[in-house]
Amino acid sequence: MATSTTSKRGNWNSKIGFILAAAGSAVGLGNIWRFPTVMAENGGAAFLLLYAALVFIVGFPVMVGELSIGRKSQRNPVGAFRALSESKFFPLVGFWGVMCGVAILSFYVIVAGWTLGYFFEQIFYSAGWFEWAEWVADTDNGWLNAGVAIVFMAATISIILGGVSDGIERAVKYLMPMLIVILVIMIGYVLFQPGAGEGIRAYLIPDFSAINSDLLLAAMGQAFFSLSLGMGALITYGSYLSKKENIPEVAGYVTLADIGIAFMAGLLIMPAIFMAQAQGLTVFNEDGSLFAGAALIFQVLPELFHNMGGIIGLIFGASFFFLLSIAALTSSISLLEVPTAYAIDEHGLKRKTAAILIGSGVTVISIIIAFDTSLIGTIDFIFSDIGLPLGGFMLCIFLGYFWKMGNAKLEMEKGFDTINDHWFFPVWSIFIRFICPILIGIILVTTIINWLS
Ligand code: PFF
Repeated sequence: MATSTTSKRGNWNSKIGFILAAAGSAVGLGNIWRFPTVMAENGGAAFLLLYAALVFIVGFPVMVGELSIGRKSQRNPVGAFRALSESKFFPLVGFWGVMCGVAILSFYVIVAGWTLGYFFEQIFYSAGWFEWAEWVADTDNGWLNAGVAIVFMAATISIILGGVSDGIERAVKYLMPMLIVILVIMIGYVLFQPGAGEGIRAYLIPDFSAINSDLLLAAMGQAFFSLSLGMGALITYGSYLSKKENIPEVAGYVTLADIGIAFMAGLLIMPAIFMAQAQGLTVFNEDGSLFAGAALIFQVLPELFHNMGGIIGLIFGASFFFLLSIAALTSSISLLEVPTAYAIDEHGLKRKTAAILIGSGVTVISIIIAFDTSLIGTIDFIFSDIGLPLGGFMLCIFLGYFWKMGNAKLEMEKGFDTINDHWFFPVWSIFIRFICPILIGIILVTTIINWLS
């Protein structure tokens, strides 16, 4: 296997460029479509508190670990584990991460494609082209699903082709501020509409009786997926990070951005659901549970925007789906960057060849899924719910017991020169060696037992 140690790797041009790219990876469909409804169904603010606790207890320490491994090794996940230990096993863990990236990307581009489809649906509907609107929104149409996934993948590949700073960093510098501005304006409008207060209450009043082991599983899965952890995306992004940066500090910003935007998405979506209900739209299933995920985003909200009517409906509807497309794009580029970096570092491919080859290969899988979208749930379960926490667990074992904490400290010292006198490192070590693997392990075993029984 050719390992091209001499090839020049990309670098982030600035600290803010890195933070936007990593936050862009984290903030995605997971935040805007999954988080608010999972939370609403699982005890509202009680879930938020539990989720926030898991994000800080497990997510943040693992993120610091991924970034340290990436920056030290200057490699993709497979090369990183190979460079830092003699073990033959851990590079396989890296390879599992690359596989998770490929698998998640294969369905992610389909759901992302739907957000593009609905962007056009809103425009066609406003223009009075109802047949076109209906056609472009038909998520059961395999050819259409394949078409929108191909468009989305082409956009993802085109950014990856530009490389780290001219491709990814340049794109996120426009896209992330745009996402935040659209989100804030939409929240500002929605909060003053009839029904909004009820939505906010349902969202923010905690129901602690809803906390149980299932909730813990949901919160852990959501934390790994949402923070893009466990598959080496942040090992890869960390490999382009300057030695001047303070890793715990930048990881802190990325974590806060992710949880902050998930929380804000709830402030938009929960009032919107109750507004829709006030207008007589169906928002609850027959068993009384709230519509979630796809049903909510692709049924209730488009109708709500139609009902708003006129230019406001058009602006809102089109902006909302544009917002989702941006969030999805900044995440899909990180999903493709992981296998691309692997092919460049480990197999000596040129960036262009790697991105096109892998992007096209993943598209073939996406096309198969496009004709049977029930596969999405299965792939998501295996690679996101099990695959990512498993990767995170192995990472903790590697950091705590193979690479050793002292080496992690030496890497973190760069950009954090007071680390020897700081409380951060001893606390982080305890989390990585004991608390995180034990918690992830318990939750993983429970998930697998529940699945088998
Ligand atoms: N964090 C993304 C989201 O919340 O939608 C999904 C994701 C991106 C997961 C990148 C994993 C990853 F490496």
